Parts: sequence; structure tokens; C-alpha cells
Amino acid sequence: MNKIIIGNLKAYMTYQDVKNYVDKITDNVILCPSAIYVPYFLNHNYKVGLQNISCYDNGAHTGEITAEQAKEIGISYVIVGHSERRYEQNETDSQINKKIVKALEKNINVILCIGEKKGENKEKIIKKQLLSALENVNDLSNVIIAYEPIWCIGTGITPTNNEIQTTIDFIQTILYEKCSQNAKIIYGGSVDKDNINILKNIDNLSGFLIGKASTDCEHLKKIIDSL
Ligand code: 13P
Repeated sequence: MNKIIIGNLKAYMTYQDVKNYVDKITDNVILCPSAIYVPYFLNHNYKVGLQNISCYDNGAHTGEITAEQAKEIGISYVIVGHSERRYEQNETDSQINKKIVKALEKNINVILCIGEKKGENKEKIIKKQLLSALENVNDLSNVIIAYEPIWCIGTGITPTNNEIQTTIDFIQTILYEKCSQNAKIIYGGSVDKDNINILKNIDNLSGFLIGKASTDCEHLKKIIDSL
């Protein structure tokens, strides 16, 4: 498997689910559980990521988890800018940028999610999301871009390979203009054990960000085995 596989476990799992899951995944993937379950996921073959991070440093910020705290406990990745945070929590481009800067300062790899709603001007939205999120970030070595069209998240719908490939090229062009570097770009949105056999043929993709299907270890293993 030479693709990056990231499981965004969202808020799907109960404590019992977690106990039945953590020892069953033995591959070198990246799993992002709810923050309260992080200790159960640490010290396995996989890497552990958070689903969100504070834009503040340690201090009087009730309910926040800072990059320093995350790094100290063994977190190596963080998802930033997921549409479920942009739109459910009204997270702004400026907050997203601050979170990215804080994570990178502590050497935590960033998984930056971008993507358009159905009917939106895709190129315009993606360009704005990328440039605002990555303001003052000029080295993409520790950044993974996850292209997640919102109309594909949790819907069972995926774009065609051609559509994804064109969008990935577009993202790559913008980032190359900005940073003179190629970025690692992955796709997310209804990836499962069946469509992975089609999606894996997109040759400019570095991997996949998987939501619901990653919460079932047998399902996730099937996806990993297909790659
Ligand atoms: P689904 O795989 O459940 O569509 O979720 C995708 C996603 O949002 C990953 O971050």
C-alpha cells in the first residue's frame, strides 16, 4: 500500500465500539478518533490524529485542545477545515488559518479539508479556501490537502475519476504557484470498499480520507487490501 489512508471516525463510536476496534487495525494508516478516545488509539501501528485543534496556546480557553497538548500526548496529525466544522460550527477561514499555523509550529501534520457545495463555483471556492487557510504557510511538507466535495460526504455519491483528476490538477497548480512545491492531495467523500477499486486508478491522488466506512474495521481492512 503506497497510498495515504486516513480514517475520520467523526463522532460515530461508543466506548464499546472503540474497545472492539483499536487492536484490529494493524496497518500503517492514520486514524482520527474523537479526542476523548485518543489514549486508546495511541501505541499501535497506526498514527493518531485529532479532528480539530485550538487556534490558541495553552491557557484559559475552556473546552480547547492545544497543539502543545496534542503533541505531548503523541498526536501527529490534525484535520482542519472539515466542512462539518466550517458549516455546523461556523468555523471561519481566519480561524482555520490560525489552527494550521499552531499545529505546524508544534510539528503536527495538517490535513486541510477543502471542497465545494453542489452548484457552487468549484474553482473559485477551492482557490479561496486554499489561499486563506495557507496564509503565511509556504512549506507544504507537513500538509496534506483533502479534497472533499460536500455533496459527496455521506451521500454515497462520488465524482467521476475524470472530475476528481481535473480538480486535483487545479489544486496542484494553485499550490505550486504559491509554494513552488508539489502537494500531497487526497480525496474524501463516500469512499468505500466497492468504489475504491475505481477511485484507486486516479494517478495524481496520494490517498483517501474515509469517514463512515472507516468506523467498521472489517470494511476499512477491505479498502486497505484493495490498494
Ligand atoms: P464519508 O466517507 O462518510 O462520506 O465522509 C467523508 C468525510 O467527511 C471524511 O472526512
